[in-house]
Amino acid sequence: MRILCVMMGMLFFAPAAMAENLIPEMLKTYQVDGAKNFDAKAGEALWHKEYAAPEGAENTKNRSCQACHGVDLSKSGEHIRTGKVIDPMALSVNPQRFSEAKKIRKWFRRNCKWVMGRVCTAQEKGDILTYLQQQ
Ligand code: HEC
Repeated sequence: MRILCVMMGMLFFAPAAMAENLIPEMLKTYQVDGAKNFDAKAGEALWHKEYAAPEGAENTKNRSCQACHGVDLSKSGEHIRTGKVIDPMALSVNPQRFSEAKKIRKWFRRNCKWVMGRVCTAQEKGDILTYLQQQ
């Protein structure tokens, strides 16, 4: 009986304690949306690419993903506007990353809009996640 309880407990708690990397699943949804094969190099290039700040913006510095997430993805980033610490993006040091589809969608929408002035395409999101997954 005790063994059974322990086993039931493990079944219950294991999934909650272990964050699952949802990138493979996200990639499938992007392909359903028309994306082709994903390319980590293209994702890396997008990640570093700088975009001019929109006209009238308070901060006229160029914008990029690394502006907040930092250059070294195994280190914490710092929000360019609020100064808040952002946990490292690299799965190798932060296994909690990319474990919630809702969160991934929300931040892609928000951050692509802020950096590029538009939402990212399914191809772009897939390329970026393919790159990030290797970090
Ligand atoms: C203005 C600051 C800022 C910029 C620029 C920025 N991000 Fe983020 N990003 C955040 C914050 C804040 C979060 C949420 C906090 C966290 O996840 O630690 C986040 C979270 C994310 C997440 C969710 C990660 C997860 O674990 O689910 C993704 C994906 C993401 N950003 C991608 C991007 C991409 C792609 C770009 C460039 C187009 C970008 N970010 C640029 C601030 C920024």
